[in-house]
Amino acid sequence: MNEPKVDFDDYTENYNSLLRESTGFFSESEAYFAKYKVDILRREVPVGVKRLLEYGCGIGRNIPFLRAAFPEATITGSDISEASLEIARKENPGVEFFLEHADTDVADLYEVIFIAGVFHHIPLGERAAVMRTLFLRLSPGGTIVVFEHNPYNPVTRRIVNDCPYDRDAVLLRPSELRELLVGAGLPVRHGAYCLFVPPSLSVLMPIEAKLGWLPLGGQYWVKATRPA
Ligand SMILES: C[S@@+](CC[C@H](N)C(=O)[O-])C[C@H]1O[C@@H](n2cnc3c(N)ncnc32)[C@H](O)[C@@H]1O
Repeated sequence: MNEPKVDFDDYTENYNSLLRESTGFFSESEAYFAKYKVDILRREVPVGVKRLLEYGCGIGRNIPFLRAAFPEATITGSDISEASLEIARKENPGVEFFLEHADTDVADLYEVIFIAGVFHHIPLGERAAVMRTLFLRLSPGGTIVVFEHNPYNPVTRRIVNDCPYDRDAVLLRPSELRELLVGAGLPVRHGAYCLFVPPSLSVLMPIEAKLGWLPLGGQYWVKATRPA
């Protein structure tokens, strides 16, 4: 890693506008990406989830969509950026958020853990330990779904190179993410490349579901479960 770790406390004011700047060519609404991922999560986990954690929730962009998709669940968000959590709390009253730090001790177990765009910010030497922590927070039989930028997509790589809060990013190939999951005791169940078709071409959306094998989507996701 060439750059020191980015502190997202410094980007709370302009997080959404920077995101809009870099991804506006695909969708003018940054909420589109949040809903898109939560829709996939909803399809991939069983109904009746009672406890769901978004790890690395940032300013809480995904939280309203998680609440809408899992109305029966208690949603919790966590992050290492206290300033981001302050915004998340303000925007999402009634949702519990907590700060991640070296001594964070979480007694609760979650049936579902959702993570989007976090692992590429975690230093290489810390990734296995973070994944092991996530294993310990999953209830037996629980599901984890991780979304990451697709390093094989040149447009994604350009966006990451140009985005100020991605200057510490070290993208992971799907095989690396799978190895981290399996290494932490979380067998991989499914995964796909995604975000091929911009919402303006929604007539082509049915094709997207068939392209999960093609390493050209803007992002990808991997699902794993903690053995029961
Ligand atoms: C690109 S933002 C994504 C935020 C959110 N997941 C979303 O989709 O909008 C990355 C977030 O990961 C957080 N982060 C980075 N390293 C982390 C770690 N080791 N544990 C928890 N969160 C972390 C950052 O503070 C930041 O809020």
